Amino acid sequence: MDHDLIVIGAGPGGYIAAIRAAQLGMSVACIDEWSRANGAPAPGGTCTNVGCIPSKAMLQSSEHYEHVGHGMAEHGIEVGSVKLDLERMLARKRKVVEQNNDGILYLFKKNKVRFVHGHAAFTARTDSGFEVAVGGAEPVTLRARQVIIATGSRPRALPGVDFDEQRVLSNSGALALSKVPERMGIIGAGVIGLEMGSVWRRLGAKVTVLEALPEFLGAADAQVAKEALKQFTRQGLDIQLGVKITEVKPAARSGPVRLLYTDSKGAEQKLEVDALMVSIGRLPHTEGLGLDKVGLKPDERGFLAVDADCRTEVPGIWAIGDVVRGPMLAHKAEEEGVAVAERLAGQKPHVDFNTVPWVIYTSPEIAWVGQTEQALKAAGRAYKVGSFPFLANGRARALGDTTGFVKLLSDAASDAILGVHIIGPLASELIAEAAVAMEFKASAEDIARICHAHPTLSEAMKEAALASDSRALNF
Ligand code: FAD
Ligand code: NAI
Repeated sequence: MDHDLIVIGAGPGGYIAAIRAAQLGMSVACIDEWSRANGAPAPGGTCTNVGCIPSKAMLQSSEHYEHVGHGMAEHGIEVGSVKLDLERMLARKRKVVEQNNDGILYLFKKNKVRFVHGHAAFTARTDSGFEVAVGGAEPVTLRARQVIIATGSRPRALPGVDFDEQRVLSNSGALALSKVPERMGIIGAGVIGLEMGSVWRRLGAKVTVLEALPEFLGAADAQVAKEALKQFTRQGLDIQLGVKITEVKPAARSGPVRLLYTDSKGAEQKLEVDALMVSIGRLPHTEGLGLDKVGLKPDERGFLAVDADCRTEVPGIWAIGDVVRGPMLAHKAEEEGVAVAERLAGQKPHVDFNTVPWVIYTSPEIAWVGQTEQALKAAGRAYKVGSFPFLANGRARALGDTTGFVKLLSDAASDAILGVHIIGPLASELIAEAAVAMEFKASAEDIARICHAHPTLSEAMKEAALASDSRALNF
């Protein structure tokens, strides 16, 4: 055998699994096909190349742009005319991505993971393990006893409407537009639609978001979703719910994209946009992997079926991240990667999906962990609610960002925290406290009794915990 373990895919699931396995003494090869424009390897997967990292770079840059243009006067800072240099903004985004690609290559070297650049496909299953052929500049066949499939996901297109990445965009094209579109259409008011819609609206596009479901952000707590819809609409995103897209026609070669759709009242509507992003979810990526050579078959939705420990039905083959069930989140993929590596080393790790936090990096940010109020109601669970608005938080007032609230749900009898929902400044960072608390099975009382530094946004968490016992001090 060449290696103890082959990992296919160097996204956050795969590269982290490879590093952890190497730390535990295994001989590991990690294969990834993603390339930069010049053909150089670009490990890091969707997350690093066209997902988490570049979207957050663009969210940050566009937020600065909007803030400098509109948010400085109240601080007593007068700013002259503000000019957008989109080329430079995109160059910065590329640099951030490349720093992350290079960082992963460095980590592979440091941890003695063999990185192979190219497309991987199973070629055989033998008595002692598996054979994987890697195409590319230097084709090679690798053998290992264990294989982790971490091939991630790709954007789902509307039937009959291919991505050309110029006018009909997936997340990749939407992160690389060389000109701010005057009118931008977005199909799908999910996480990508809201984040990328925010970016291009801040940079000057008139953004219309068309969502099939009648309800906005159904996975979030309903109260948070309601506040988010109010804020995003106020900012200028035109979000239309309950629509049915009937036709999408990009004009020949250049020119606008024309859409026909039925609105929530059943009326026919037309929309013409200069760029259309389709963000209606993602599909697991298993094409060309030679799964038939090892007796694996994706399920009817394209996912690889795994048990709670990420074992596929073929002993010795594991699958993690976006290619398997569960939330399509980088940190979920990472946790599964670590868990499989540790399981291979004989340890007994556990990943609890209930404490995987969700974050939407809009402004205000949205973050949650655990159960929503509507889910608790539906389950008939007796619960308490404690809420605290950022309007009553000193740090938020000093920051000049008082939108939103923290809402903490706890069990009516035991006081155990069941869910925490935040909309407001730095919700992405604040949610970590809630995730830690839930992992340690903390009660609302525990959070309420912990000394939180003043003045910090985190005091809103403590106050929400106090509020669940009707004893908030500052509201
Ligand atoms: P991926 O990151 O998709 O990596 C899979 C890798 O496998 C790729 O590099 C691919 O090239 C490689 N590969 C596939 N097949 C083969 C093959 N046959 N041979 C060789 N290599 C192969 N999640 C968050 O948690 N936070 C965020 O802020 C966030 N933002 C996002 C923003 C956008 C615009 C998008 C699209 C996604 C975002 N996500 C975010 C989701 C996150 O990117 C994914 O959940 C995560 O990347 C999944 O990791 P993975 O390792 O399973 O797969
Ligand atoms: P999504 O599942 O978040 O949202 C897709 C939306 O499109 C849904 O609201 C759905 O109802 C709607 N939709 C589906 N078909 C439609 C149609 N035909 N017409 C109109 N609307 C339609 O998926 P999205 O935004 O594509 O993102 C994919 C995944 O990537 C997310 O689920 C998330 O896991 C991950 N992601 C995470 C981020 C984060 O953690 N901050 C950021 C971006 C993506």
